[in-house]
Amino acid sequence: MFRRIADKLHQAEKIVFVTGAGISQESGIPTFRGKDGLWRKYDAMKLATIDAFYENPKIVWEWYEERRKNILAAKPNPGHLAMAELEKHKPVHVLTQNIDGMHKRAGNTKVYELHGSIITIKCTVCDFKDTVMTSFSELPPVCKCGNILRPDVVWFGESLPQNVWHAAIQQASSCDIMIVVGTSLAVSPANLLPVYAQQNGAIMVEVNPEETPMSVSMDLSIRSSAAKALPELLLYFKDKL
Ligand code: APR
Repeated sequence: MFRRIADKLHQAEKIVFVTGAGISQESGIPTFRGKDGLWRKYDAMKLATIDAFYENPKIVWEWYEERRKNILAAKPNPGHLAMAELEKHKPVHVLTQNIDGMHKRAGNTKVYELHGSIITIKCTVCDFKDTVMTSFSELPPVCKCGNILRPDVVWFGESLPQNVWHAAIQQASSCDIMIVVGTSLAVSPANLLPVYAQQNGAIMVEVNPEETPMSVSMDLSIRSSAAKALPELLLYFKDKL
C-alpha cells in the first residue's frame, strides 16, 4: 500500500496536503470532534463566534490564552516533520485548517492557513496585526488605538481570508495527488478542497484512524495516525530516490 503511494509521489508534479486538527493531536493539541475533542467539553457557539466574542471577550480570550500556551509549548510531531521533509524533494503545498502554526515550524514553506493563526493578534478596529509569542497580562488585550484585540482566527460565521482561500482552491485544483490528513471534513468551505482535487483527476489518499464523509471516494484510506503513517510513507518514498 505504502509502496504504491510512494510511486505516485515520485511521479507527481504537485503534491497537496489538506490537514486538520488530527495531524497535531500527537503533539498534544486536542482535536475538536471525536472522543477527546474540544467541542465535547466546550460549547463552540459560546467560544468561537464573533457574537460570543463581543458578548464576553474576556471568557473567549481566556480560552484562547489557554490554547496559545499549549500550542506555543508543543512541538511538531513526526507527521508534520515527514511532510516538511517531503518538500525537500517535491513541490508540496499544505492547505491547513489548523491555527497552531505547526507546519511552518516543522519547515514547510508553502502553507495556506485557511482559518488564520492563533499566534497572530489583530485589532478589531484598526489595521494593527502582530505575532505575539508571550502571554497577555490582562484580558482582553487592548490595542494602542484603544479598541480590543482579537486572535487572527476565523470564527464560525466568518469568511475565510479570501486571498488564502482562492490560492488554496487553485492548488487543490491543479495537484496530481492530494493527501487528506486528520480532518473530519465536517467544516465548510475547507471540506470542499478534496472535491476540487478529485475533479482534476488527482489521486486521493486519506490518513485518519476514523472514516470521514469522503472515505468512500478516496483511492486509498490509511486507517492510522498521522505520526505513524506519514514517516512510514516517507521511508518508502526515500527508498526510491
Ligand atoms: N492522526 C490522524 N488523524 C487523527 C488523529 C491522528 N493522530 N487523531 C484524530 N484524528 C482525526 C479524527 O478521526 C478526526 O476525523 O482527526 C480528525 C479531527 O477532526 P476535527 O476535530 O473535526 O478537526 P478539523 O477537521 O480540523 O476541524 C475543522 O472545525 O472547529 C473547527 O475551526 C475548527 O479548523 C477547525 C475545523
